[in-house]
Amino acid sequence: MRKKIVAGNWKMNLNYEEGQKLTSEIVNMYKDENIKDVTVVLNPPFVHLFPVKKLIGNTPNLFLGSQNCSEKAAGAYTGETSASMLKSFGAEYVILGHSERREYFKESNELLTAKVRQALDYGLTPIFCCGEPLEIREAGTHEAYVKNQLTESLFGLSAEDFAKIVIAYEPIWAIGTGKTASSDQAQEMHKALREHLASKFGQEAADHTSILYGGSCNPGNAKDLFSKADVDGGLIGGASLKSRDFMDIIKSF
Ligand code: 13P
Repeated sequence: MRKKIVAGNWKMNLNYEEGQKLTSEIVNMYKDENIKDVTVVLNPPFVHLFPVKKLIGNTPNLFLGSQNCSEKAAGAYTGETSASMLKSFGAEYVILGHSERREYFKESNELLTAKVRQALDYGLTPIFCCGEPLEIREAGTHEAYVKNQLTESLFGLSAEDFAKIVIAYEPIWAIGTGKTASSDQAQEMHKALREHLASKFGQEAADHTSILYGGSCNPGNAKDLFSKADVDGGLIGGASLKSRDFMDIIKSF
């Protein structure tokens, strides 16, 4: 059985008080509403990590994650945050290769290989993002495009390391646009990615890999998306900033 995961990506939103309020609400609802068998990850900006972790405490199945980490271990890299720091502040997950980082911060597949290495070396679980822009979808080459992102960043991993990876498929045209991929489009891509992973790491490893969908996922469409055989949860942007919406998505399996 692979893990069902719902991860909230706050992106660059919320001040200290807002972050505390949102986290408290989520922690309380999470405990009250008896959620079972879903791994939940909150991924706030760096400055929120420590106070958010204090509120999460040791709540079972509720974890802290970061939105990025450095590809370097330590040293004179002003403004950067290392995987080992994140781990020491209580993070268990790290989102890597988000399309916003690929586009605005020019993160390449090669750079992401180094970030994945850092995350794994310091015991963080990478939530590795992939996804195609609209023009690639319209040209019909989206499967090859996304498979290549996985090949270039992940296919150098050992089987043991690969077993720790979570994949998030986020079609760029669906992010923050309100235009979600249909559940059939998501399933088609997730299935293709699982087959691609199986071709390198074997069927058993691929069957154990959680593949999340991201892109305008909300309480209204999560049930349909999560009902698909190869969709193992979601990476949630906008709707993760509203406690009720986020909880309703968590309860959509
Ligand atoms: P939205 O849910 O706001 O579309 O964002 C998706 C996303 O980018 C999560 O990482």
